[in-house]
Amino acid sequence: MENKSTPTVAVLTVSDRSARGERPDAGGPAVVDAVTYYLGWQVLDPVIVPDDINTIMQTLHRLAADGADLIFTTGGTGFSPRDVTPEATRKVIEREAPGLVEAVRAASMKITPHAMLSRAVAGILRQTLIINLPGNPKAGREALEVLAPVLPHAISTLRGDSGAEQAHRKPPTHIV
Ligand code: MTE
Repeated sequence: MENKSTPTVAVLTVSDRSARGERPDAGGPAVVDAVTYYLGWQVLDPVIVPDDINTIMQTLHRLAADGADLIFTTGGTGFSPRDVTPEATRKVIEREAPGLVEAVRAASMKITPHAMLSRAVAGILRQTLIINLPGNPKAGREALEVLAPVLPHAISTLRGDSGAEQAHRKPPTHIV
């Protein structure tokens, strides 16, 4: 997107059980709330898909084509045989952005060593940034706290415009 409007965010929940309606999705709503709280950006209607690599890929492509500047996936980054969100993401992105998920893992590992079990990746598809998050709602909130300070600049750069750093609604005190 080449305009300077408020960025649009999509949240894609990847979960067999939630897609079948057997378990309420907790990770997606937690990420939506955190995006609203930390960034105040527009969030598209939530999408839930099963842990199927082709479905995840198609949905990522569709959300990017629909105009999402940023897509968060939640879930499917662990070690279970059905966890393929990182593989689907790698097949879709054109450029990797490893620093984002490295930062999330580093911060989360101070809270739980289990954070190192997330195989999350991040990268860029044309002008859309895609970031994998773990399905745990607390993990999603913690990740947004880490990522929010850099996302306005990231999206601004992707769009090729400037000034989006002013979009911080809640600037972290450690950044001047
Ligand atoms: N990160 C934080 N901050 N808190 C957590 O509880 N859970 C971990 C990890 N990351 C966790 C976390 C666990 S137990 C797993 S298996 C992986 O995320 C992958 O989770 P996912 O398959 O739901 O994506």
